[in-house]
Amino acid sequence: MNDTVLVVDFGAQYAQLIARRVREAHVYSEIVPHSISADEVRAKSPSAIILSGGPKSVYADVAPSLDPAIYDLGVPILGICYGAQLMALQLGGNVANTGIGEYGRTTLTREGPSLLMAEWPPETTAWMSHGDAIAEAPASFAVTASSPEGPVAVMEDVERGLYATQFHPEVAHTERGQELLSNFLHHVAGIPPTWTNTSIIEDQVAAIRKQVGDEKVLCALSGGVDSAVAAALVTKAVGTQLTCVFVDTGLMRKNEGDQIEETFVRQFGVDLVHVKAQDRFFDALEGVTDPEAKRKIIGELFIREFEAVARDLAEGDEGPKFLVQGTLYPDVIESGSGHAANIKSHHNVGGLPEDLSFELVEPLRLLFKDEVRHVGEELGLPAEIVWRQPFPGPGLGVRIIGEVTRERAEILRNADYVVVDEIRKAGLYRELWQSFAVLPAVRTVGVMGDGRTYAYPIVIRAVTSDDAMTADWARLPYDVIESIANRLIREVEGVNRVALDVTSKPPGTIEWE
Ligand code: XMP
Repeated sequence: MNDTVLVVDFGAQYAQLIARRVREAHVYSEIVPHSISADEVRAKSPSAIILSGGPKSVYADVAPSLDPAIYDLGVPILGICYGAQLMALQLGGNVANTGIGEYGRTTLTREGPSLLMAEWPPETTAWMSHGDAIAEAPASFAVTASSPEGPVAVMEDVERGLYATQFHPEVAHTERGQELLSNFLHHVAGIPPTWTNTSIIEDQVAAIRKQVGDEKVLCALSGGVDSAVAAALVTKAVGTQLTCVFVDTGLMRKNEGDQIEETFVRQFGVDLVHVKAQDRFFDALEGVTDPEAKRKIIGELFIREFEAVARDLAEGDEGPKFLVQGTLYPDVIESGSGHAANIKSHHNVGGLPEDLSFELVEPLRLLFKDEVRHVGEELGLPAEIVWRQPFPGPGLGVRIIGEVTRERAEILRNADYVVVDEIRKAGLYRELWQSFAVLPAVRTVGVMGDGRTYAYPIVIRAVTSDDAMTADWARLPYDVIESIANRLIREVEGVNRVALDVTSKPPGTIEWE
């Protein structure tokens, strides 16, 4: 088993970012709540602990605290921002509630020898975000760096293995932040960098083999990254025991079904059931314009189609006992519980009937999205699948405003292809969170050649985002917008006008429905 670093969560999103940075240093990390006791920590036998930042003041009425016995376990600890202040306060130092905080880029000045910053120059820049500040380090600590408003920007107690930084080493704006984290992990705590794509794959392959034995396994492929990587891992582990199901709803992107066949059948030799259910979806959606009604119809029909395949395969005793889910680590942390069976709520396999009870195989539940992509690449999945932008469960259905018909789905699919193709050619695809076409439910007048046209407009939607909770409209270069617009009108029959969506989220949403 890999060495484990526990990241103690004091709120907001800081802990996840730290946990990802630790993984980037090739060390396995787990997020734990701040209510964890010293005994619980001991039971996990971590090789190091990092205390995250948090939004509260250590003097707030309900300031989250830490079991002080954790400091005496002999495990190296790094406190960051709130975690640093808490460590100072709990070990007899002083935290000042001066009202003069530091926010943003700050100069850090070294104050003598340091294990954490061994090779650093006298001055660097670091990212601060704190209202309170450590005014005085506990007696056993040496102060090794300061900042303009913080006499104790870094403190170290080498004897006890306790370290703290008032700034945020995990953010990209801190010049040598990743170096500090790596140094803490590899040199101070002595943890070898063994968490790599290869070790992740080996561990998961072994775990899958152990879990499923020689039973059969079922997996729904959605065209997205997570289900593809999960399926590829299961294929590597138990090859012929896996059956994949791909339901073509008629609302997929251009060539999506072909690409899945090409990759999984021809490249990986997977047993694939390709359900061509387009007609049943279009029939069910006829005349429906309400966005939630459309979502519900698509979701329910998807489950019915998947269930029909599962039932067929389950005939006799030889049917699959296991179902693959692409659950990721953030889904597990957000659920708070950390135990299995929190099935993804979007359409994939949300609500199978009770008598079709599968045991879940979740080979990605320890991984962050970026790790999933790298594992996918290492497994040989094409970059086009691995680096794909998120795509909603109901597919193009939530981008066709009003009624979904075969004709309108075809117009949008062709338009979407042009938008993405031009974005890729401009080298912007990976930078953008999502970029796609939307088909409104209006037609406008135009003129083409000698005649007038009465056809649909296409709206270009492109956003930047970290997590889809908030998003900004992407400032696409004019020449990229121009080439998208020219091609849309030239190549996509049924389109005679192009508009650009310049709404951020909030107040807008990313999708149009
Ligand atoms: P919104 O439109 O709410 O979208 O800003 C946030 C993110 O979620 C995706 N999305 C969906 N995903 N089923 C899904 O699986 C859905 O019904 C759905 N609606 C939106 C959207 O693409 C974006 O990444």
